[in-house]
Amino acid sequence: MKQKIPLAGVIGSPIAQSKSPRLHRHWLRRYGLRGDYVPLHVDPEDLETVLRAMPKMGFVGANVTIPHKVAVMKFADQVSDRATLVGAANTLIFKDDGRIFADNTDGYGFMANLHQQAPDWDPRSGNAAVLGAGGAARAIIVALADAGVTEILLSNRTRAKADALRSEFGARIRVVDWVQAGNMFEDATTVVNTTSLGMIGQPELRVPLDGLRAGALVTDLVYSPLRTSLLETAHAAGCVTVDGLGMLLHQGVPGFERWFGTRPEVDEETRRVVLG
Ligand code: ATR
Repeated sequence: MKQKIPLAGVIGSPIAQSKSPRLHRHWLRRYGLRGDYVPLHVDPEDLETVLRAMPKMGFVGANVTIPHKVAVMKFADQVSDRATLVGAANTLIFKDDGRIFADNTDGYGFMANLHQQAPDWDPRSGNAAVLGAGGAARAIIVALADAGVTEILLSNRTRAKADALRSEFGARIRVVDWVQAGNMFEDATTVVNTTSLGMIGQPELRVPLDGLRAGALVTDLVYSPLRTSLLETAHAAGCVTVDGLGMLLHQGVPGFERWFGTRPEVDEETRRVVLG
């Protein structure tokens, strides 16, 4: 019997905007591998049915995006420590017997991007200031704490969500009121925007940026536009800036390797292809 063509895909709703199909197809082509990667629009009420059917259809795994990253955890048969800690999964591996292994590679993608784009950055050189306390912030807080930042200053429009993260992830987090978020930067050698502010179609980030320290690393998870006004202002202030596209590319690496057997490289060509 001929071997099935390995398939992977990204599950979300909406999904048309996802850059993952372009990324993974590029890697499949580049390494001459058999396989395909498709966007899958799945509504929340269909998530379990779809997940149970996928392994039978030749899928070896999937990426998971909004709004399924938390919900998918309860359908997994095995969950990585990282996904358990973050409380969400973005990468699924379907075992031969149909069992589902759930992992979270967002923190890995975040760190790998910073190390690649800013090789001199040392997370242990001081505090990190994080804007936002949503799903993306959880993975990033776990990654920054692991990387040894001194303290995480955290600010969110809805303070209760930042307080909840502090209770969950511990005393190395200091919550700062949203109206005072600008004050965090004077004390930070790493600055991260995890909110959707500054994204095309969303309001601008209005936090005062005059406290940014020259030499600090500033990164934005927003990658549309690639150069947000946060990054532009930070660059003008002498900060090292890293855009958010690389996090998206790097978070795809572990899944691709597990599904298709080759560890793909993230380089300039990958960026160009994904940007189209
Ligand atoms: P993600 O998974 O991308 O983190 P999310 O969980 O919906 O998405 O989180 C969105 C983040 O952007 C939150 O921190 C949110 O703040 P609230 O917790 O107060 O909602 C933040 N955000 C979105 N719109 C915002 C706005 N207009 N002003 C300030 N913060 C905003």
